[in-house]
Amino acid sequence: MAAQYGPAGPSEDELKALLAQCTVEEKIQLLSLKNFWETSNIDRLDIPSLKVSDGPNGARGGEFFDGVTAACFPACVSLAATFDRSLCERIGAAIGQEAQTKGAYVLLGPTVCCHRSPVGGRNFEAFSEDPYVSGALASSYVKGLQSERVAATVKHFVANEQDTRRFTVNETISERALREIYLRPFEMVIKQADPWCIMTSYPKINGAHMDAQPTFLKDILREQWGYQGLLMSDWGATSNCDGSLTYGLDLETPGPPKHRTVEAVQSSLAASRVTEQDVDDRVLALLKLLKKVGKFTDRRATPEEQAVDRPEHRALIREAGAAGIVLLKNDSSVLPMNKTACKKIALVGPLVDIAAAHGGGSASLNCHYKVSPYEAFQKGLGTDVEVTTSKGANIYRAYPDLEAGSVNRNGNPGFIADFFKSNDLSGEPFYSEEYPRAAFTTLMNVSATGAQSVRFTSTYTAPVSGTHYLSFSGLGPSKFFINGELVSHQAEQMRDSMAFLLGVQDELRFQHTFVAGTAYEFVIESVPSPVSNSDLHLLDNQVAAHLGYVAQADMEKDLLAEAVGLAAEADFVVCFVGNTAQWETEGQDMSEMALPAQGSQDQLVSAVAKANPNTIVVVTTGIPVAMPWLSQVPAVLQAWYAGQETGNAIFDVLFGAVNPSGKLPVSWPKRYEDSPCFGNFGLDSYDSLQVEYVEGVNVGYRHFDQKYGNNDEVLFPFGFGLSYTSFSFADATIEGTFNKKATESDVVTVSVTVTNTGSTAGSETVQVYLALPTEGAGAGRPPKALVSFEKLYLQPGESKRTQLTFARDGAAYWIEGQAWRVDGGNHSVTVATSSSPRDVQATLELEIKEAFDFAA
Ligand code: BGC
Repeated sequence: MAAQYGPAGPSEDELKALLAQCTVEEKIQLLSLKNFWETSNIDRLDIPSLKVSDGPNGARGGEFFDGVTAACFPACVSLAATFDRSLCERIGAAIGQEAQTKGAYVLLGPTVCCHRSPVGGRNFEAFSEDPYVSGALASSYVKGLQSERVAATVKHFVANEQDTRRFTVNETISERALREIYLRPFEMVIKQADPWCIMTSYPKINGAHMDAQPTFLKDILREQWGYQGLLMSDWGATSNCDGSLTYGLDLETPGPPKHRTVEAVQSSLAASRVTEQDVDDRVLALLKLLKKVGKFTDRRATPEEQAVDRPEHRALIREAGAAGIVLLKNDSSVLPMNKTACKKIALVGPLVDIAAAHGGGSASLNCHYKVSPYEAFQKGLGTDVEVTTSKGANIYRAYPDLEAGSVNRNGNPGFIADFFKSNDLSGEPFYSEEYPRAAFTTLMNVSATGAQSVRFTSTYTAPVSGTHYLSFSGLGPSKFFINGELVSHQAEQMRDSMAFLLGVQDELRFQHTFVAGTAYEFVIESVPSPVSNSDLHLLDNQVAAHLGYVAQADMEKDLLAEAVGLAAEADFVVCFVGNTAQWETEGQDMSEMALPAQGSQDQLVSAVAKANPNTIVVVTTGIPVAMPWLSQVPAVLQAWYAGQETGNAIFDVLFGAVNPSGKLPVSWPKRYEDSPCFGNFGLDSYDSLQVEYVEGVNVGYRHFDQKYGNNDEVLFPFGFGLSYTSFSFADATIEGTFNKKATESDVVTVSVTVTNTGSTAGSETVQVYLALPTEGAGAGRPPKALVSFEKLYLQPGESKRTQLTFARDGAAYWIEGQAWRVDGGNHSVTVATSSSPRDVQATLELEIKEAFDFAA
């Protein structure tokens, strides 16, 4: 019989009483998920199971691929570019509503790691290079999400900046860089928004994984910051049994557990390496979470996943996507475009027909729908304007999964996988399953657990004749046969196994001749990776493979000539370039800042700009890219990954329905070589398992300020973004100061009056930067750091006075010995519209009488 609690659920005492009734075995079950996405339930005691879902730009639900459709919101980098706290809060709440449609009351997000390098594969998922921006906007997002009684899981604690070798890499980071840059957003979110969960990261930091050292979970999170919520590992990031339990990692993920098996925990208890109190503390954290999300009361059951496509979410996504778009260049006010001034528009580029709504990996989801730029133009322009299109360039990182023309032995589209317990495909398969296209993974497939070899088969009838382009890869050693002939053989395991899981790298490429209408027998044989290349075991014994296909005619078509031809005939050209989810994805970083692939997109922009000077470039990426063609085009928009309404959001800005107000949440280097950690990131040093955070605290604009002083050695500075109107600033003042009696809620206030001096309504983001005194103990500090921002919306001619505040931590830097220091002396405070010295609007002084320290 179900336990009866009041509407608020069990009291803390009742939770403790519940815990006391659990046997040791039951408690151990509660220390890990029971499957990929759900916590364990103890029916005897009416302890329900709780489902979690990725995050962060929507709630994907339990299926990694092809799941129930979900609303796709803008990526966090796009949200960051809005610099709009209340918009982020509304997005958080909407994602909370989405999570409920998937029966998940814990969302795995937001991601607040730092954009350390411009080539980070997963930067799009995180907010900014600046810890203050990340912390402030993530706090709003978390408040919104949790207002729906859905737990946020702020991730990945800490320093998951690179995806290359993320399981195995050891990152050496100074205490100061950790405190001032990498821990900072987590600290802000914990203090401002009280997230109910935190997810630990994969890499080793200064020699050990998160759960194998007391520093981060026990000392900093729990003791110094007083964090009371639940700590879960990233999927497969629990690295041990004893340390993880004693240092405070509450939940191992996914399940069934690799480390917290009943036998392992019992033997740790028997040997007193772990105490029953440790176990109780971990379980209590879970029980408290169950209560917070309503699992003991009105949300006991886990409902079926549903696709609920709400008009208000559509509108919010379109609004937010447009608000994040950054206008980088607009010579001679070529934008906004005027519908009546053009008769013919050419849309060229690989992202004309693709709605690049999200990046790759766990942030990807099966969108309710996606609006491509072409669809948006068609709908927005109607029949008055002729729209022509050309893809202009191929940008495959991996060829698309082979799909059309394959039929399995049951007569259904796709392949059949036969799973064997033997490692040589001998004997009878213990399980078989159909796959709709040529992409296979056993991860999350419980029925396939224990497979030691797999055979995937299909009969392929070529839709068109040609010597088509194929690609092949496997997680472990794999072979591909056509009509019994071995045509591709990957003899070794995949170089970076994690990369394989969610994108594909290093695929083998070849051509094969097919005759239309003829049937070919396709067989793929694959075995798990022979050796684990990591302390973390997520991919151990997993099998995965991929077969890609591009028709010869598609590959060999002269796309560039086609695009140039259309450009020459049009009044305007809009060129849609960027990355896809294959390029920017969890599991792998990019190797350079150039747009993919092999210069094809850069060539395209230059060629169409030559053919038509009215060429506007729209870049869809989550990261800065090199722009060798910048001087050849009059206008450039940075659109990020704007979610399912991406085409409409871009259209709204191009045609002026929305006045652009996005600001760059990252510095935009001219060249990859100029970036702060060049040579010490990701693929720069692939073969090394060591990564040194050589730049220390000088990340992003801090690096460019420190290295180049007052010169702008970037293409576009952090905080930069143009508008269709103009603003002026007046009467900046500063009030208040800090002394040793200051608490974390005492603030200094900067006030300034902003006027819209143009003829279009629009928004400006006022930014306040603080520079420490040049004398003082904190030598080597970055020249300045952002301490506050506010976004103002103004009608033409309208003025508003705004107040921007910051607390003592804005003026503090970390000193060895676990304390923050604020120097005495004159601190320079600038009011600006970007981090560039060119955009400073006022300079003020903050006089702090005496230096003082305060504890972490
Ligand atoms: C990612 C997490 C994600 C988890 C579950 C991991 O590989 O790093 O961000 O939440 O998988 O999909």
